[in-house]
Parts: sequence; structure tokens; C-alpha cells
Amino acid sequence: MLLPSSAKESRKGDLSMTTKPAVIVAVDGPAGSGKSSICREVCKQIGFVYVNTGAIYRALGLIAKRMNFDLDDDQQLGNLVTIFNQGLEWDAKTGSLYFEGENLSPHLYDEQVGLFASKIAKNPKLRTLLLPLLRNLAESAPGGAMLDGRDIGTVVFPNADLKIFMTASLEQRAKRRLLQLQDKASPSETLPSHQQIMAEIEKRDAQDKYRGTAPLKKSPDAIEFDTSDLGIEESIATMTKMIKSKLNLA
Ligand code: DC
Repeated sequence: MLLPSSAKESRKGDLSMTTKPAVIVAVDGPAGSGKSSICREVCKQIGFVYVNTGAIYRALGLIAKRMNFDLDDDQQLGNLVTIFNQGLEWDAKTGSLYFEGENLSPHLYDEQVGLFASKIAKNPKLRTLLLPLLRNLAESAPGGAMLDGRDIGTVVFPNADLKIFMTASLEQRAKRRLLQLQDKASPSETLPSHQQIMAEIEKRDAQDKYRGTAPLKKSPDAIEFDTSDLGIEESIATMTKMIKSKLNLA
């Protein structure tokens, strides 16, 4: 299912007209803490729409690179958001992002695209222009929505019904990333070492935490959820239980 046309219209029109869905769950945390894999499954279990905002920054980074935009130029990044908004289709069911008919999702997860995303995400103008889109994707969900990112509980939805800050040790996050790469790699491919991945993640953490606009930080009212010692199934079960209990869901 693509974004309903009424929601698309409201994205382009008067954004103050959107209706708040019953429930918004905001999930923030550093790269590799398990947010997307866990949130996607938890949403299936509780019937919420999942909005992966990192994928949106990645899609913007990818398009910026393909179109040779200058990642440091305010004006160009402003134009980028306009072009992105016009060409974007979002499949709420699978979370796939289409730009001008092309499914971008298979291209979003290499380290280079992550670094472009992190770079453009430092730009305050781009972030402000993106806010209505992020809010509308969630608010147009028929029931509740769960968004994950870096600033969801602090900036995008400061009044979210529930906020979760997901963490995991650097060591664990690098281990998980390496397993993901091994899963996808062809037998002849040379993979980065655990040390190299730790260094990449540390670099991205620093870019996300120490930027001037909407830095990654725990909102004071967020519940901290450390997944370092939990497997994926255990993390999903623990988070589903926590959300159901906090929000009184059946
Ligand atoms: O969650 P991720 O690794 O896919 O996100 C990619 C980059 O996008 C990340 O380095 C920081 C940025 N980002 C952001 O600044 N704010 C968000 N709400 C989500 C992602």
C-alpha cells in the first residue's frame, strides 16, 4: 500500500490540518543499536505503522550524491528536500521508499550512504524542511505509529505517548554489523574487519552526537533499553511487552 493520496495531499498542503493518531511511539538511539530490526517486528505485533526515519536521511544522501549536490550548500540541500518530496512514494506496509518510481531500499545500507546521510543530517535547514514529511508519515497512519531515529523524542515528536532510547555497546554493534555484511556478501568479497567497523560506527556516533542541530541524545522522559546482551527475538519480545504494558494495549 502506498501512502494514501489524502496523506500525500496533506503533505504538500496545510500541514497544520493533520490529525494526530491515537498513539505515537518515539524510538531513538545510536547506529547499530538494533532499532530498525526490532521496531519493524514490534510494529507487526502491535499493529502499528513503522517509520524508519534513518532510511529517509539515507535516501536523501543517496539522491544528493547521484545528483551531484554539494552536501555543504544550504540552498542545494533545500532544493533536494523539495525534489525528494515531489518524487517520493512510501509503502507503509513494507517501509520501502520509492523515488521517481525506483525502489531505493536495496541501495540504502552501504557504509558510504550512511556517511552521506550523517553528513546531510547535520544541516539545520534540511532538518527543518523535513519535519512536516516525517510528522505526516506518522500522523497519516490509521492506528498508532512508531518512528525511529536520533531526534524523534526530542524534536520530531516531543509529546510522543511513549519514548524509548535504545542502546548497545560499541563492541556489540560492530559485531552485529559484521554479521549483516557477512550475510549479504558474495564469497569473493573482502569484508572490513571488526576494528574497521568499530571505527566507522564511532565516527558516525560522533557526527550524530556532537552536531549543533538535533543531536542524538536521550530525552529525559525516555525509557532506556539496552540490547547489548539480548538476541533479536528476546529484544523484540521485551520491547513488545514493555510497550503493551506502558500503553495499555491488548
Ligand atoms: O539510523 P540510520 O543509521 O539508518 O541513520 C542514518 C543517518 O541519518 C544517521 O547517521 C543519522 C541520520 N539520522 C538523523 O540525523 N536523524 C534521524 N531521525 C534519523 C537518522
